[in-house]
Amino acid sequence: MMFLPEGSRRVLGRDAQRINILIAKAVANAVKSTLGPKGMDKMLVDDMGDVTISNDGATILGEMQIDHPAGKMMVEVAKTQDREVGDGTTSAVILAGGLLQKAESLLDDEIHPSIIINGYRMAEKKAKDIANEIADGLSFDDTKTLRKIAMTSMTGKSAEAEARLSDLVVEAVQTVAEKEDGKYHIDLDHVKIEKKTGASLHESELIKGIVLDKEIVHSGMPRHVENAKIALIDAALEIKETETDAKIEITSPDQLQAFLDQEEGMLKKMVENIQKSGATVVVCQKGIDDLAQHFLAKAGVLAVRRVKQSDLQKLAKSTGGKIISRIQDITKEDLGHAKSVSEKKIAGDNMVFIEGCKNPKAVTILVRGGTQHVIDEAERALTDALGAVTSSIKDGKTVTGGGSTEIEIAMQLQEYAKNVGGREQLAINAFAEALEIIPKTLAETAGMDPIDTLVGLRARHKGKEGKYLGVNVHDSKIDDMRKLNVVEPLRIKTQALSSASEVAQMLLRIDDIIAASSGSKMPKGGMPDMSGMGMD
Ligand SMILES: Nc1ncnc2c1ncn2[C@@H]1O[C@H](COP(=O)(O)OP(=O)(O)OP(=O)(O)O)[C@@H](O)[C@H]1O
Ligand SMILES: [Mg+2]
Repeated sequence: MMFLPEGSRRVLGRDAQRINILIAKAVANAVKSTLGPKGMDKMLVDDMGDVTISNDGATILGEMQIDHPAGKMMVEVAKTQDREVGDGTTSAVILAGGLLQKAESLLDDEIHPSIIINGYRMAEKKAKDIANEIADGLSFDDTKTLRKIAMTSMTGKSAEAEARLSDLVVEAVQTVAEKEDGKYHIDLDHVKIEKKTGASLHESELIKGIVLDKEIVHSGMPRHVENAKIALIDAALEIKETETDAKIEITSPDQLQAFLDQEEGMLKKMVENIQKSGATVVVCQKGIDDLAQHFLAKAGVLAVRRVKQSDLQKLAKSTGGKIISRIQDITKEDLGHAKSVSEKKIAGDNMVFIEGCKNPKAVTILVRGGTQHVIDEAERALTDALGAVTSSIKDGKTVTGGGSTEIEIAMQLQEYAKNVGGREQLAINAFAEALEIIPKTLAETAGMDPIDTLVGLRARHKGKEGKYLGVNVHDSKIDDMRKLNVVEPLRIKTQALSSASEVAQMLLRIDDIIAASSGSKMPKGGMPDMSGMGMD
């Protein structure tokens, strides 16, 4: 290895593949036990001692700080799934692990990686086609099915009160959806999640508007403003401190008074400008000086300060207002509108509710829960469900869960493989077998015999309406998933197929790992450090 700097390490050929597959499988194994409603949770403690309790694949892998490049690629699979669909991250990672495991056996049988890659590519395309074919249609107003989708995606996330939360999710998505050229456009930025401990999850609510976790700055201000005209300001209502080290020498009380008067005058002018525009509410991203608060209160204006930039932007969208940086330039046209702005006490804290916005396409889900851990996990469950409902509406297609879709695709793929023939046939069959890892894992979490379950599923899928049969994890038997309301968006499956198959192909294509000497993640002897990765 003359051409490499001293201390670099290199692993070649089969060894390189073996290591990458080993790592990828270990990552998949680490999240495997969390799959499905009967899946377990993980408790993750970061180096600051903060605790996260979660069942969400993307969250768990994100917290694990995986170092090895192959492991990182697996984490990417979860992240992509999270970004594109919002749910199905655990399944995508497990599937990628399964594909690599099957590939390993083929490699052991001396099948060349390029044949496996080719077969996997064909199988991926065919699998997505099959998924499309077996999917059922869904219409935007089918609230009942949408609720089932939300519910399915939330199960297992230890967010009891799933029924309540799924209603909120569906209503939120239906509210913010916009129809354009017959297609629904949904921007989840318009759904804000605000969390507050102190009540039960059942008391979570949907507010058609925006909730700010802030209180009104001055006790002399009105607590409630109807038909509010809202000024959105991202500058401070304060006198700027001089940036250079200036010194002002004051030699007489008159001068001091004049100086203070001038400051007062400037603040008064600011408030007058705001008042002149006709604003009755001020939402400020920065601070508001005590004196300015006093003037605003006298003018009967309700004001909130130190609001998050993202909230200010949401408010601009929903109230139709413009964010102003120069207070002296504020005009009537810059103001946003809302039916009411009011302060309400939630769990001992005041929050400001801006409701009945000009553009009602902004909502807030106010999540309540006993403890911070509970609402944090509920928030993750909500984001998953929001993603699932959104992608179902966008595609207008659903499939059933509980492993039913995976088994159906696997069986049809095997039929397809027969027609392909050649060595690729072996790879396509391997792909099909890898898909069975989902129902198999679900069966395991339910304490069922995984092999018997697979055999049973395969046999019964041949029958009429067989495609709906999956694993009933609650009663530990094979069942019709429609009856159990286990419905998922088609995109959960197609996206998982794409990302899992891509990462498998990418890792199989690598036959040379070269690691620089410093900061090398390749451990001694070329074998990675597997401690704590939960290897089977
Ligand atoms: N009531 C149910 N009965 C059987 N299977 C179910 C049920 N509810 C959900 N599932 C299945 O559980 C799987 C989803 O599990 P889970 O939500 O833990 O992981 P995920 O969606 O892949 O990843 P994420 O961690 O992002 O949620 C899917 O295969 C789904 O069909
Ligand atoms: Mg899920």
